[in-house]
Amino acid sequence: MNILVTGGCGFIGSNLANTLIKKGHTVHVIDNLSNGKLENIKESADKIIFWKGDITDKNYINKIISQVDAVYHLAAQISVTASIKDPLKDAAVNIGGTLNILQAAATYRVKKVIYYSSAAVYGEPAYLPINENHPKNPSSPYGLSKLTGEKYAEFYSKFYGLNIIVIRPFNVYGPKQDPRNPYTGVISTFLNKALQGEDIPIYGDGGQSRDFIYVEDLAELSIKALSKNTPQLTVLNGACGEKTTIKNLAEKIKELTGSSSKIIFLPRREGEIYESYADISAAKQLLDFKPVYKLEDGLKKLITYFKSG
Ligand SMILES: NC(=O)c1ccc[n+]([C@@H]2O[C@H](COP(=O)([O-])OP(=O)(O)OC[C@H]3O[C@@H](n4cnc5c(N)ncnc54)[C@H](O)[C@@H]3O)[C@@H](O)[C@H]2O)c1
Repeated sequence: MNILVTGGCGFIGSNLANTLIKKGHTVHVIDNLSNGKLENIKESADKIIFWKGDITDKNYINKIISQVDAVYHLAAQISVTASIKDPLKDAAVNIGGTLNILQAAATYRVKKVIYYSSAAVYGEPAYLPINENHPKNPSSPYGLSKLTGEKYAEFYSKFYGLNIIVIRPFNVYGPKQDPRNPYTGVISTFLNKALQGEDIPIYGDGGQSRDFIYVEDLAELSIKALSKNTPQLTVLNGACGEKTTIKNLAEKIKELTGSSSKIIFLPRREGEIYESYADISAAKQLLDFKPVYKLEDGLKKLITYFKSG
């Protein structure tokens, strides 16, 4: 198939694009390189058709989407903090850009659009584990812009007959997640600190929990989402379905790296969600999805990657 990956030079997008190439697809990538790197797709550089540009540029998007059968839409402003500082910019990319993708996909009758939303759409959990029907109550402009993208996807599915899968990733980790980026995931940050022998900072008592999914498992879920027959509009959590506390995570990372880093406890961050983990039975039933990586396996693989780089 001819497949477009928006944001394909980023952390999740590059892992997905490289996997799609290995499976024999023709892959187009659009990225403005605001947060991603060409280096992330260098292993497939001779095969990927790279378009440097912005998803807010409607004409450019039309030109690319007219050439593809399916779209994975990942390009986004991904920082909650940046969305609070500049909600207009966040909305321009995450809502305006997403609308360009959906409109072009409808115009050129793309077979399927897989839209990456976020678990941020749920906000403070009303119950656990969080299933897809959980109330949506985003607590940041980022969560709101992702939810608005979902609502537009729903609209395009209903009124334009577009086939849509919405994936709501929880906490994704794996190679190519930049540990120097201040907004990066907690696993990359902790691993980097552990390997440098620096203090590992925990905000609060460390009892807060998250659901971590290895990026290869998310790529597998995404590929199944494209290849399986699914209802015209399908919404799925992208997670492992297991909760890990931040304190356990820091201790596990120390153990696996043999690090002498100290775990330090800092004041709890305002507005941070305490507990979060997902119910993934919908993805299991509909796509026969089964995460392969237990946290320890994923961490071991990531440590090898960190040490090799
Ligand atoms: N990483 C996670 O744990 C996580 C969790 C929930 C949801 N998500 C969602 O998954 C998707 C991918 O996230 P990621 O962690 O790989 O982020 P990332 O920042 O590594 O990737 C996003 C890519 O989009 C590109 N981009 C940003 N704005 C653009 C624009 N206007 N035009 C073209 N390209 C643009 C960036 O350069 C980057 O390469 C995002 O939609 C994000 O909201 C990620």
